[in-house]
Amino acid sequence: MTESPAPPHAGDDEALRERALAALLTARERTTLLTDSVDDHDLTAQHSPLMSPLVWDLAHIGNQEELWLLRGVAGREAMRPEIDGLYDAFEHPRATRPSLPLLAPGEARSYASEVRGRALDVLESTPLGDGPALVRSGFAFGMIAQHEQQHDETMLITHQLRSGPAALTAPEPPRAVDAPPAEVLVPGGPFTMGTSAEPWALDNERPAHQRDVPGFVIDTAPVTCGAYRAFIEDGGYGERRWWAPEGWAMVREHELAAPLFWHRDSGQWLRRRFGVTEPVPDDEPVLHVSWYEADAYARWAGRRLPTEAEWEKAARHDPVSGRSRRYPWGDEDPTPERANLGQRHLRPAPAGAYPAGRAPCGAGQLIADVWEWTASDFLPYPGFAPFPYREYSEVFFGPEHKVLRGGSFAVDTVACRGTFRNWDLPVRRQIFSGFRTARDL
Ligand code: AVJ
Ligand code: FE
Repeated sequence: MTESPAPPHAGDDEALRERALAALLTARERTTLLTDSVDDHDLTAQHSPLMSPLVWDLAHIGNQEELWLLRGVAGREAMRPEIDGLYDAFEHPRATRPSLPLLAPGEARSYASEVRGRALDVLESTPLGDGPALVRSGFAFGMIAQHEQQHDETMLITHQLRSGPAALTAPEPPRAVDAPPAEVLVPGGPFTMGTSAEPWALDNERPAHQRDVPGFVIDTAPVTCGAYRAFIEDGGYGERRWWAPEGWAMVREHELAAPLFWHRDSGQWLRRRFGVTEPVPDDEPVLHVSWYEADAYARWAGRRLPTEAEWEKAARHDPVSGRSRRYPWGDEDPTPERANLGQRHLRPAPAGAYPAGRAPCGAGQLIADVWEWTASDFLPYPGFAPFPYREYSEVFFGPEHKVLRGGSFAVDTVACRGTFRNWDLPVRRQIFSGFRTARDL
């Protein structure tokens, strides 16, 4: 019982360098699109107290890159030591960031691009094969590309929260091919959770370890808007018995009656999506629900959320080899045929799409489309070691954060894999969150 061996690029200096370069360039292309598609007023405005102004994310991306690639890997001096504090996420909560003396849009752009120019020189001249842990297998470069892409998802959330006409457009995702069975069985037994082989896996995904998971049944697709609408129409938001106590308190305090961005107009459910109001599509995975809403829906449906271990076993376990794979479809990298990643489409694909992305158990759309809430608290794996900084994961471990798995349409391939762990507070719903349900055998 083990995981797939390290991917072929992992030990090849040139292959790693090429992957790192491509990942950094892809991230910057996305960042540029997200920040060039609105004007300076929109860049510096705060569109929601939950989010930073976009111009903060932009300079923070550059600042983290400077910190880890220029100062960390190459031992350079700080370019602008006076701005470090402004872009330290722990020094200033998001709500207070607009009142800081932030770099103006033009300054932020030139700072980020100056850092990038130097970082590419560092990439070219640094041996990646072995050496200190920070650069081994190109980790620091992969980490920084992932960091930028994570902020690109954050910036897309800000775009979604912004009022006014659409700033971004994208082609429609592929349709569902056929209706897969509604649920599949995952037999009980041990499997390998987490990874020790994936070169750019972040600290909280490590190390690989055995978990015994009793047999369970899991949905083959995320819960759809249509299914969720049945919960609403059955009075789900008005019935205390479906809700965890804190969830019920949240519903009452904020008078919640539907997912974020939904409203009812003369009997029809509409939603606002990136500046456009449209009918809620019944066949699409539901988006913008909190953990409490996911939990309440599952209870109403006579089911429950899968644990994080169940989710990962459904996504990675290959019953033939006994190994855990990098992705549901195998060990090969994501492609547009396998998963809805990279902000290529600005919405989830309908439930039943991406048959090429299905796992051995038959479950689909585990990777991409919507982040999936799990029943589990965000906790370290046995043998966890913070790397390279405690503030990435360790300070968030505990019962106050719930784990989300699988990525969303807003996540790039570099920041998405079968072992990737995201987390958030159970009240959050501005994120691209949905869920699937499970039940005991
Ligand atoms: C892993 C998505 C919860 O955005 O707060 C970005 C990622 N960490 N910069 C976040 C992150 C530092 C993190 N999440
Ligand atoms: Fe960050």
